[in-house]
Amino acid sequence: MLGITGGIAIYKSASLLRELTFEHGADVQVIMTDSALKFMSPLIFETFSGKPVWTSMFSDKEMVGVRHVEISKWADAVLISPATANIIGKAANGIADDLLSTVISGAGTKTIFAAAMETGMYENPIMQQNIKRLKDAGFGFIDPESGPLASGESGVGRLAESRVIVHSLLTHLKSGRLRGKKILVSAGPTREWIDPVRFISNPSTGRMGFSLAEAASAEGADVIVISGPTEVASPVGAELIKVSTAEEMKNAIVEKFAESDALVMSAAVGDYTYPEAGSEKLKKNGSDLRLNLKRTDDILKAISGDKGDKVIVGFSVETENIIENSKLKLHEKSMDFIVVNNPKENGAAFGHDTNKVSIIDRKGSVEELELMSKGELSTLIIDKVSKLLSGS
Ligand SMILES: Cc1cc2nc3c(=O)[nH]c(=O)nc-3n(C[C@H](O)[C@H](O)[C@H](O)COP(=O)(O)O)c2cc1C
Repeated sequence: MLGITGGIAIYKSASLLRELTFEHGADVQVIMTDSALKFMSPLIFETFSGKPVWTSMFSDKEMVGVRHVEISKWADAVLISPATANIIGKAANGIADDLLSTVISGAGTKTIFAAAMETGMYENPIMQQNIKRLKDAGFGFIDPESGPLASGESGVGRLAESRVIVHSLLTHLKSGRLRGKKILVSAGPTREWIDPVRFISNPSTGRMGFSLAEAASAEGADVIVISGPTEVASPVGAELIKVSTAEEMKNAIVEKFAESDALVMSAAVGDYTYPEAGSEKLKKNGSDLRLNLKRTDDILKAISGDKGDKVIVGFSVETENIIENSKLKLHEKSMDFIVVNNPKENGAAFGHDTNKVSIIDRKGSVEELELMSKGELSTLIIDKVSKLLSGS
């Protein structure tokens, strides 16, 4: 359930809702307060949720009987974003004088507030007491960030970024199955330099790996991400180690694997490097250029001797004999399961928000999955990792 109140950050709620439904496959009902309705029309939220937006305790045609009780019970989580000073004050003091505050009252600690307000309102000692009261009682609370505010001033009070809100929501929802576990994730491309201004690389963006890292962190794991160069925003809830070349990636993984419970190897590591790269730019001349490329070390082979009961998940990108080639890799490199991408499929592999994969396990069974968002796929993969780690 997404509760929307009358704060200026309300315009961000539309893209947040879209992210929840589209990216994470969430089923969302929306409630808007009277003040929220002064800022925005429900139409956009109806469109993104695919459902009517609830706006009133008494006059919505479909709000019959004790629908507010049904909504409180139906929701796995109640996210209030943006959360005004007013709704925080009401919730902290048990006030239930409109539909949203009544639903919060029924939902209790399933509720998580993403606060947004002017610095003065936020720093008000009564507000701080209200926040503390909610946190102490077990409600979720996403602290606002510092930055420019609607008043033109700068200070604490800005709504947290939506990826932070989504991650907090997921963490609030999950059971913490990976608490105490250390998960290592590799992400993104690597670069093999051929001179100081050119490199060989691939189109990996790191999105799949970052999404996996966030899914593992939402389950309570300590997550380290080793990533090649990427423009994508850093994953929330994970330590990020940045590398560039395949060799740097290998060294970082070998070092961190020793202390990890699982490795999810989603990086697209270069297979070839150019050992003769010099410090000067290669000059063009009249003839063609031939580069002698050398094989890079295979990272999974380098660590397979230390596998023990650690879980290893690999990714493969194949364009022909996809399943046979992937099965071969799975066994050669001691993986527990392999996630197979076919970049020729629409919406799959590099650069998309979605992916279409097959998952092959050590027994050889092949699970062909539908096209889904990278968020949903990450949850599914991390679920398999959790089961393997717990032996279930
Ligand atoms: C233009 C404008 C922007 C506002 N922005 C905020 C805000 O960011 N945070 C906040 O707590 N209140 C803000 N308010 C005040 C709330 O709208 C007001 O306290 C209202 O009673 C909140 O009602 P609700 O919590 O039921 O939605 C703003 C008011 C106006 C007119």
